[in-house]
Amino acid sequence: MRKRQIKERIHWLGAVDWDRRLFDSLIPLPDGTTYNAYLVEGSEKTALLDTVDPPMVDMLMAQLEDVPKLDFIVSHHAEQDHSGSIVPVLKKFPEAKVVSTPKARDMLIDLLRVPESAFVTVKDGETLSLGDKTLKFIHTPWVHWPETMVTYLEEDRILFSCDFFGSHIAAADLFVTDKGRVHEAAKRYFAEIMMPFRNVIEKNIEKLKPLHIQMIAPSHGQIQDQPAWIMEAYKDWIQSTPKNLVVLPYVSMHGSTKHMVDHFTSALVDRGVRVELYNLAVSDIGKLAMSLVDAATIVVGTSTVLAGPHPLAAYAAFLANALRPKAKFLSIIGSYGWGGKTVETLAGMIPNLKVEVLDPVLCKGLPSESDLRSLDNLAEAISRKHKENGLS
Ligand code: FEO
Repeated sequence: MRKRQIKERIHWLGAVDWDRRLFDSLIPLPDGTTYNAYLVEGSEKTALLDTVDPPMVDMLMAQLEDVPKLDFIVSHHAEQDHSGSIVPVLKKFPEAKVVSTPKARDMLIDLLRVPESAFVTVKDGETLSLGDKTLKFIHTPWVHWPETMVTYLEEDRILFSCDFFGSHIAAADLFVTDKGRVHEAAKRYFAEIMMPFRNVIEKNIEKLKPLHIQMIAPSHGQIQDQPAWIMEAYKDWIQSTPKNLVVLPYVSMHGSTKHMVDHFTSALVDRGVRVELYNLAVSDIGKLAMSLVDAATIVVGTSTVLAGPHPLAAYAAFLANALRPKAKFLSIIGSYGWGGKTVETLAGMIPNLKVEVLDPVLCKGLPSESDLRSLDNLAEAISRKHKENGLS
């Protein structure tokens, strides 16, 4: 992809990674991704905002071929997908200075071996004049690493937000054309990357309020030329009140747990509670993360393996604990053959979750009538708790 103009003397550079299907050897990328960099040419100085993932560096270097001079490389975030090509860009433009937060400087030196002498660090709110264009740097820690910042281009009212408001979508369209698709991808991205830091993200969104943002140019996905809706979506995702929703990740080896899950799902639906089910043997873990953004209750369904939870159920519990969703209630249902410590093991894996644990329902083999009544009682308790908390 060649470089593309966004506005006068502001260009998109970077790479569209149509084929990538996994990030961090963990996160599914059903729609690929992009690594967006931006070139801002002022009347006196030129700045490159972020770079690209190292496997894509040749594309960036080709786009920089006809750029005669680079004064600054702004690094919003020290993670490799945006800063991993700073060193080769510096080789082409040795006079350029790397602009970052002080914390990012330390991380870039340690993680990516960017030479210390190349740095200019900026304070929160500091500006940098490129002549007739002015970059204002706003520190936005924990979006999603401790060193992150964003840049506001004052004259053109563009926020260069790096991961903030981004989404993993590979697309030929530079600007958002399908809001529904981007909303889903951005929610998935928020769930996987941002959710554990939602309280500090709320403060960072507050910091952006005084700006007159007309466009958000993130480092993944398409540019938002109508940015109000994505900012509103973030506000919805970070708010502390969950929805009247049970997320039910489960795994069943011989069908007993599946039988319980089916019965329990109907019992919840009959009581007006929404349910989102994930068979962990086949599910996209990113979809599960998205459901965790909204769910008031998490119920893990698991078979028993070697006296404990199935490893896939343990994985789901580990994931939920790491993502720190806003859920208020949690329970466990499942089946065992001869006994075990499934409940104790899973309960011990979620210290980060501020949840009330509701009585689990474990049964031996196929659920009996009495076990099914216990599931009805659990559904009733969840419905009551949701109503008491005014969840809709
Ligand atoms: Fe897209 Fe946190 O890097």
